[in-house]
Amino acid sequence: MIMDDKNRVYIFDTTLRDGEQVPGCQLTTKEKIEIARELEALGVDVIEAGFPISSPGDFQSVVAISQAVSAPVICALTRANRKDIEVAAEALKQAKRPRIHTGIGSSDMHIKYKFNSTREQILERAVDAVQYARKFVDDVEFYAEDAGRADDAYLAQMVEAVIAAGATVVNIPDTNGYCLPEQYGAKIKYLKDHVPNVEQAILSVHCHNDLGLATANAIAGLKNGARQAECTINGIGERAGNTSLEEVAMVLRTHQATLGLTTGIDPKKFYAISGMVSDMMRMPVQPNKAIVGRNAFSHSSGIHQDGVLKHRENYEIINPEDVGLASNSIILTARSGRHALRHHLLRLGYDVQKIDMDEVYERFLMMADEKKEIGDEELRSLVSGKPARA
Ligand code: KIV
Ligand code: ZN
Repeated sequence: MIMDDKNRVYIFDTTLRDGEQVPGCQLTTKEKIEIARELEALGVDVIEAGFPISSPGDFQSVVAISQAVSAPVICALTRANRKDIEVAAEALKQAKRPRIHTGIGSSDMHIKYKFNSTREQILERAVDAVQYARKFVDDVEFYAEDAGRADDAYLAQMVEAVIAAGATVVNIPDTNGYCLPEQYGAKIKYLKDHVPNVEQAILSVHCHNDLGLATANAIAGLKNGARQAECTINGIGERAGNTSLEEVAMVLRTHQATLGLTTGIDPKKFYAISGMVSDMMRMPVQPNKAIVGRNAFSHSSGIHQDGVLKHRENYEIINPEDVGLASNSIILTARSGRHALRHHLLRLGYDVQKIDMDEVYERFLMMADEKKEIGDEELRSLVSGKPARA
């Protein structure tokens, strides 16, 4: 990947690898191909298609996605060992732009308790893995697992060594979602300032959401010089999930004037792809999820409804159409005011001049206290005085 624009952020989607690790979310190869095609249309730069050595099905999915999709880089995950790398290289054979994503733990916690090893030995394995992967493909990404908790000086040594060994991208994962945004941002800045060959590779952010900080951390990393963001649709992923792709893209878009960063993403496709991933993975999107949640553009209190009906931007910083939603919604509840009631009556074609609004509003409130949400049928019955059809 050539960095021709220093303000361009590359979007690396790992819905089909880190996202698919969620229990109960496993997809068939056919479903993965469908999602990969939508990710391509969305404009992602890299699709992490799977972890080929993990199962024959995952291997086959990487092969099939490599055949089906041509614009994005197709990436396959490995551990830092030769067998994994050989299998990944085989799975990627038909990819137009293949990338091997290899790596190893970088925190003392992982070095000691996961690998029962030493910093020196881990460094050697990291370099060997990158050099070996480069024998098969020109594009090798290295991940320094648990970098969020790693010692910065050791991490810098590791990043320098893997870039010298041929890594084109270096991923700095906050694997356990541990960091505060300022800590994660400072880590990326430290690497930018202390790794002599850092400009020869792209630094990548990969943040988990254990403390609900994944998006904030990813943005902090990008502000400090990382230029690839690893994300998933709807923020799905291990435990509390990964950084949500739609959130990162919309933060960068909404604050483009301040941050000066761009992506190749077409946000109009968000709503559809979010629903598709949620359905296929049988993983509902929480209603208050930013950007794609059912309530993200719904207004239910009278004060907000009045404000948004006077001028949408009173309570919306994003135009719902920009993320693929036909319009916002004004939900009629017992918290709604006359303005919202009038808006819906007009929408249903009533001549509100001829309606006794005080009287209808009073009956509306009584009904809303009982029913929680008032739909069109119930509104018609309020005006006509006849009961709504069951
Ligand atoms: O969270 C993580 O560290 C990962 C790596 C395997 C990239 O998913
Ligand atoms: Zn991860």
